[in-house]
Amino acid sequence: MCGIVGYIGDKPVVDILLNGLQQLEYRGYDSAGVAVMCENKINVYKAEGKLENLSSELLIHKDEYKNSTMGIGHIRWATHGAPNVINAHPHTCNCGSLVIVHNGIIENYKELKSELEKKGAKFRSQTDTEAVAHLIAYIYNETKNLTEAVRLAAQKIDGAYALCVMHSDKKDELVATKRNAPLLVGVGENEYYVASDVPATIPYTKKAMYLNDNQIVTLTRQSMTLIDSEGNELPKKVETLPWEPVALSKMGYKHFMLKEIHEQPDVIRNVLTGKIHSSDEPIILNEVKLTKESLKNLNRIQIIACGTSLHAAMIGKYIIEDFCGIAVDVEASSEYIYRKTVTDEHTLVIGVSQSGETADTLTAIKQSKARGSHILIITNRPDSAMAREADSLLSVNAGIEVSVAATKSYMAQLVSFYLLAIYMAEIKGNMNTEALKTLKSDLTLVPQKIEQILSHKEYIQKCAQYYANTKDFIYVARGINYPTALEGALKLKEISYINATGYPAGELKHGPIAMLDESMPVLSILMKGSVYEKLLSNSEEAKARNARMIALTNSKDEKLKDLFDFIIEVPEIQELLSPLIAIVPLQLIAYYISEYLGKDVDQPRNLAKSVTVE
Ligand code: F6R
Repeated sequence: MCGIVGYIGDKPVVDILLNGLQQLEYRGYDSAGVAVMCENKINVYKAEGKLENLSSELLIHKDEYKNSTMGIGHIRWATHGAPNVINAHPHTCNCGSLVIVHNGIIENYKELKSELEKKGAKFRSQTDTEAVAHLIAYIYNETKNLTEAVRLAAQKIDGAYALCVMHSDKKDELVATKRNAPLLVGVGENEYYVASDVPATIPYTKKAMYLNDNQIVTLTRQSMTLIDSEGNELPKKVETLPWEPVALSKMGYKHFMLKEIHEQPDVIRNVLTGKIHSSDEPIILNEVKLTKESLKNLNRIQIIACGTSLHAAMIGKYIIEDFCGIAVDVEASSEYIYRKTVTDEHTLVIGVSQSGETADTLTAIKQSKARGSHILIITNRPDSAMAREADSLLSVNAGIEVSVAATKSYMAQLVSFYLLAIYMAEIKGNMNTEALKTLKSDLTLVPQKIEQILSHKEYIQKCAQYYANTKDFIYVARGINYPTALEGALKLKEISYINATGYPAGELKHGPIAMLDESMPVLSILMKGSVYEKLLSNSEEAKARNARMIALTNSKDEKLKDLFDFIIEVPEIQELLSPLIAIVPLQLIAYYISEYLGKDVDQPRNLAKSVTVE
């Protein structure tokens, strides 16, 4: 995580750096800093906390940098060292003439640090990054060539990094490089922008060059030079990005999260556009390259993801197994990459990631690709590193999601899984065509059902406020909605910091039931279908232990009134599609509890939206 930016050109640099950092705030927000080339030296400004603190700090010093047109900036998500001013980037060498910003983790920083200390480096911070500042400075002092210093330093570094570097000797030079962390250069007229992600450069230029691992770019106001790790010059591939600058506006909502929850009906319509034409016609997924033959050759499917995307993957497993009869395993990427997996050319590997950048998932995908598996990526970022590894791509089109807690991107991932499962069932020809038709036409009705839920959100708000002061919260479900329970609990944990857990309801009596008493809210996701009666019995068991019972249901069953204190009703829907409906009230419960408690809904503590470290 962390976001880095850089600029060299003829415009006032600080505004550009601050605007860029604001666009990258989703990558971290515990401190921020910039370094700008002033007349005789580089000035560094840093502040703890949100970006607005840095803006205020910069305002105080505005006369010092008013003519500056070159600089680098950083927004931090702390990995090594507390989030404070000393650990905030940019970091410098002893004398402050070399400055760097870094995203990633330097794994051998302790070894580097002790070597450099012997050579006289004075470390001030607890970060891994500072070792790189001293290392590059040390090599620069011998070579007096900044690009060469960065190239040679990179050979000594283990780990992941995107780096942008400048030196006070070089008033017309920025150097950047990367390995296993994203970085691009925005190309303007006699000016260049460096950034971790497109939103920071797109307001200024649509032209960009993505750096590949181990490439080093040197930027002057008039030129851009690209070399590989051996120092050989490389051709530059400048693309015109299909992006438009977007004004990030809350559109009258109090928080981005609430706005994004409300966008879900339109997100679903978007995802379905061009893919379902009518329930009689097959699903069209242009960039999915699976054939009858390739599906016949599959032994199994492995889905890899993290966090909310992992919950979407668990529902994906359920429906692919149900619709296609192919065995599916789901695993957290962080676990997958450190064991001996039996993935091969007969395994379809599906990576799911909103950002397309998550380090664990990206590593897992690369490992399976090396073993010959077909890689299918489901992502909201078709330009991401993960998408570039894909043999097949399912772009979810959720639009930019600003709130750190994922809502509409989860919805878009779920809908994409339904499309994929139906698409594969249609190719395999193993599922009843009437059932497939009904699924397709019912899918198109989901947006209006979610609109119905949103139009009655006041009752959900009342329920949320009633439980807002609880310390713990349990969500139970069975079958296809067990992942919905996990996702509901994750949303609540993330933004309210309440200890919330999702359980398969049948498991309650195998341990968790010991926690139940009159202080514990238990929310049952009671969707009509195969497990309804079973879940009702499990809810009775919880009620018998005096738990505070809440139902989320599409049943009009009268007996629910005796069992539950709150009954949140949702529209009727067939069981297989019910996760699309059931998640919405859970997102709203989490939102309203967080808002009621006065938490930072859109930027909860300790989190970042893009997790680029393993
Ligand atoms: C939770 C959330 C995270 C992400 C996880 C994976 O609201 O957003 O749990 O789902 O960090 O991120 P992606 O999907 O970008 O790989």
